[in-house]
Amino acid sequence: MAKKPLNIGLVGYGFMGRTHSNGYKRVSDFFPDLAYRPVLKAVCGRTAEKAQAFADQWGYESIETDWKKLIARDDIDAIDICTPNNSHAEISIAAAAAGKMILCEKPLSMNSEQGQEMVKAVEAAGVPNTVWYNYRRVPAVSLAKQLIDEGRLGRIFHYRSNFLQDWTISEDLPQGGAALWRLDVNAAGSGVTGDLLAHCLDTAIWLNGGVKDVTAMTETFVKERMHNETGKVEPVGIDDACAFLCHFDNGSLGLFESTRYARGHKALYTFEINGEKASIRWDLHDLHRLEYFDHADDSLIRGWHHVHCTDGDMPYMKQWWVPGLQIGYEHTFVHQVADFLKSIETGTPCSPTFAEALETQQICDAVLQSAKSRQWVDVK
Ligand SMILES: NC(=O)c1ccc[n+]([C@@H]2O[C@H](COP(=O)([O-])OP(=O)(O)OC[C@H]3O[C@@H](n4cnc5c(N)ncnc54)[C@H](O)[C@@H]3O)[C@@H](O)[C@H]2O)c1
Repeated sequence: MAKKPLNIGLVGYGFMGRTHSNGYKRVSDFFPDLAYRPVLKAVCGRTAEKAQAFADQWGYESIETDWKKLIARDDIDAIDICTPNNSHAEISIAAAAAGKMILCEKPLSMNSEQGQEMVKAVEAAGVPNTVWYNYRRVPAVSLAKQLIDEGRLGRIFHYRSNFLQDWTISEDLPQGGAALWRLDVNAAGSGVTGDLLAHCLDTAIWLNGGVKDVTAMTETFVKERMHNETGKVEPVGIDDACAFLCHFDNGSLGLFESTRYARGHKALYTFEINGEKASIRWDLHDLHRLEYFDHADDSLIRGWHHVHCTDGDMPYMKQWWVPGLQIGYEHTFVHQVADFLKSIETGTPCSPTFAEALETQQICDAVLQSAKSRQWVDVK
């Protein structure tokens, strides 16, 4: 049966613009049963020359240099937002008003007030929407969800998660502008909290449920940096590091840490969950493995299992190669595209929706507020 085209308009052609484009290009080959097929209709960037070079490289049919014009086009079905955080709300709200489907990069917004406006806009327009918290779609992480939902861990006591990097240690690193917008609070909204802990939180909410309250500390180790846009040395407004404790709604205790000052770590995202019957741990550097300890095992062989998530009965894996052969980071985006296309076909939401991603934003806000007030803060 001929597939229905879904015309994509991509805004922003940086790191995420590439991962998403790769997802759109590969999905129909590896998920042949989907009714929809993405078409790379247009890419939007502020510089025509660069946008054209990206279009030529990746196979987009056309370019725009103003996202408003992209949204106004009748031949675009879905807007994919891959721009810095301070533009997610404006683009999403305009796209929803124009009746476009929206795939928005994380974090949803600069703060939860803005996130609420975005949720209102997509709900009023009734447009399909999703936020790219792609780590849910690592097969080993999806397997963790399956094991927890089957009750294999029993009552959960602890959820522990880290996201460690080391790329901002140099005091000479400027803030702001292309590539360094993450260090500029006006473009990013926050530092590691919205950038990295948001990933840890999205996974945590998915695996272990909502968060009740938090107590946090943040630190900005380098207080001033040259700003690329003004050419002046300016105060740094982001959190360079953040650690927090929380209570989950299910009574378990959470411990989270993120920093860009952990020398030696590039993208060490980990989580460990300790339950009454079993424990699970996962590590992005070894993303195809799920470690699993089951107390019910025979005591003579009881220990941590290293489950290589490559068999066809494991989440997403029957679409790929043969047992024993692993997939990687870029496949999580192929999976999210596949799930989004399926959700349009079936008329069901593609998690996390804007409304679900707002929960992560609310916890991030509570974390930042707690660090400032040095008090426990309830998550709204
Ligand atoms: N899901 C993930 O794992 C993940 C990973 C990295 C980044 N992100 C998120 O993706 C978003 C983009 O991050 P990135 O790493 O791709 O950044 P990037 O700096 O590599 O790319 C951003 C792109 O947006 C463009 N841009 C900026 N303002 C624009 C405008 N007004 N109109 C059109 N284009 C504009 C820039 O020119 C650039 O091409 C951020 O929200 C970030 O938090 C998510």
